[in-house]
Amino acid sequence: MTLTETATTTWHSTWRTRTAFWWMALSALAIAVFAPLPYAVNSLADLAAQEQPLATNYAGRSSAVQLAFYLHIACGGLALLLSPLQFATRLRLRSLTAHRAVGRVVLVAIALSGLAGLVLAPHNAAGPVGTAGFGLLALLWLGFAATAFRVIRRRDVTAHRRWMVRTFALTYAAVTLRLWLGVLTTVQIGVWGVDGDTAFERAYLLVPFLSWVPNLLVAEWYLAVRRRAVPDPLTRSVAAP
Ligand code: HEM
Repeated sequence: MTLTETATTTWHSTWRTRTAFWWMALSALAIAVFAPLPYAVNSLADLAAQEQPLATNYAGRSSAVQLAFYLHIACGGLALLLSPLQFATRLRLRSLTAHRAVGRVVLVAIALSGLAGLVLAPHNAAGPVGTAGFGLLALLWLGFAATAFRVIRRRDVTAHRRWMVRTFALTYAAVTLRLWLGVLTTVQIGVWGVDGDTAFERAYLLVPFLSWVPNLLVAEWYLAVRRRAVPDPLTRSVAAP
């Protein structure tokens, strides 16, 4: 697409895109705060004593794995909390310096959380399916974020935006994982009368892939629909690929 073609088309922000943005920003904020919170105020041993299944999994692990666990949730929470701000056009236009600074924090947080996620994947509570699903998610998360950084270093704003949309689709897996777990356990308990522990174990076998594959498909669909639009005035200074 040439610069002229890019500049003659416009992306209309509709109530649907605004609602989607606010839903994602607020759900990301909620999970970024409430998912790591129990681990910030209780030790893994205390949570394991209360039979919290994931804490039980990590309470007896080596200090290296436990360190990876805390690094993962702290940095993952930070990436999830800050990422929506980076998509707000008004904030980006107001201060590009702030956008760059927050962007670097997000990328470092993803690098640390993703590497720690790779350490955790073989120890996860879902077994081999979790190692594959969470492991692949971590690799793609690191790869997409690194690509987004590489392309913006050569000032390709359009490609940067597209890779950051894909990166956020994976960051948002922290939200969708918990939504899927809630839906799948509730349906099993409510419809089939399955007991709570069994319902959770079964649901947990699905979420290592279910938490992120649909997110990525939605992101690709969104990018395809938006391909001809002008993302924001900043992109007008750069020729699109
Ligand atoms: C997108 C790439 C991510 C990968 C590959 C990943 C991977 C993992 C893995 C393997 C575990 C251990 C699960 C188990 O033992 O069964 C875990 C747990 C956890 N992760 Fe992530 N994660 C990602 C993103 C995030 C983000 C963005 C957050 C931000 C809140 C987050 C927060 C947590 C928390 C709080 C836990 C502890 C389990 C819980 O209480 O729900 N993760 N993650």
